[in-house]
Amino acid sequence: MKAVAIQAFGSPEGLVVIDLPDPTPADGQVLVATEAIGVGSVDVLIRRGALAAYGFSEGHVLGGEIAGTVTAVGSGVDTSWVGRRVWAFTGMGGGYAEQAVAPAATLVPLPAALSAVDAVTLGSSGIVAHFGLRHARFAPGESVLVRGAAGGIGIMTVQLAARGDAGAVAVTTSSPERGDRLRKLGATHVLDRAGEGDEDAPAGYDVIIDVVAGAHLPSFFAKLNPNGRMVAVGAVGGPPPAGFAMEMIAAFRKSMSFATFSADTVAQPDRRAVTADLFAAASRGEWDAVVHDVLPLEEAVPAHREMEAGDVFGRIVLAPSGSPAL
Ligand SMILES: NC(=O)c1ccc[n+]([C@@H]2O[C@H](COP(=O)([O-])OP(=O)(O)OC[C@H]3O[C@@H](n4cnc5c(N)ncnc54)[C@H](OP(=O)(O)O)[C@@H]3O)[C@@H](O)[C@H]2O)c1
Repeated sequence: MKAVAIQAFGSPEGLVVIDLPDPTPADGQVLVATEAIGVGSVDVLIRRGALAAYGFSEGHVLGGEIAGTVTAVGSGVDTSWVGRRVWAFTGMGGGYAEQAVAPAATLVPLPAALSAVDAVTLGSSGIVAHFGLRHARFAPGESVLVRGAAGGIGIMTVQLAARGDAGAVAVTTSSPERGDRLRKLGATHVLDRAGEGDEDAPAGYDVIIDVVAGAHLPSFFAKLNPNGRMVAVGAVGGPPPAGFAMEMIAAFRKSMSFATFSADTVAQPDRRAVTADLFAAASRGEWDAVVHDVLPLEEAVPAHREMEAGDVFGRIVLAPSGSPAL
């Protein structure tokens, strides 16, 4: 089978198409013939070599989020999965391939009306958005700021907050065009990356969902209302400055909270239940799956170039030859 591996850490050109034997599902795993493969920011970090300390080495096949048809199961897995169309999360990689193994515990069946491309666009991002807002104890009527709203997680958080009757849904983004697209998804106020640019935006927010972190994270503490909660769900802008918590301590009397959130802390059955509900609603047309582009698996290099350039709004998806997604 065809797969895409990291031949050399660094630029997108370090990705190469290779031939591998079809993998065999181990205990508790299934084999999926992929139709759609999500390209994530974490794939970019692994490809650059930034996560080598976590065990990712050259030769690694990227890819966590896949959708396709189960073709075989390992021992201990219900054989009735064979032939079913599913969404799956491979965990440590192996997804940029025509066949990929994934833990059966992650499987979510695809409704007939949901495409594999939409599933890998909505799945992981939807989980982070749902449980990230819950971690922030978001309640209807509260104001929400989504920092870094143009990516998969931000787009889902904007839609979810708007559906959850947020009092306001502000976003940060880098262009008016992106702002217009985010308004169509439910944003009520569009700010620049510094959090400025809309005089009518609320002065403070009850909840900030932050995908960015980076050097400017502490300046957003000033945008929290008393008892406001900021939850960091990503760090696409790099780590925050050392000692950033001092800015929050300085505003002690506002009783603000800062927390991190990782979907890894959510039990698999809860993740699956939320994803299944999301897929059912999406198949009824109740969610916008924002797909930036669908490219052949062999075009992982241009897909990663687009990610590097910051050109991607929503999700970029790879599909092996013969996939109905192409
Ligand atoms: N918490 C979890 O469980 C979980 C799970 C999966 C992934 N993650 C993390 O979530 C992040 C990826 O999320 P994503 O795919 O939604 O994000 P993304 O698409 O990589 O980035 C979101 C947006 O942030 C803006 N941005 C990029 N660099 C920036 C910078 N230096 N300063 C300010 N804004 C910047 C860009 O929009 P504009 O150009 O419009 O500003 C970009 O579209 C990663 O950090 C990943 O590790 C977390």
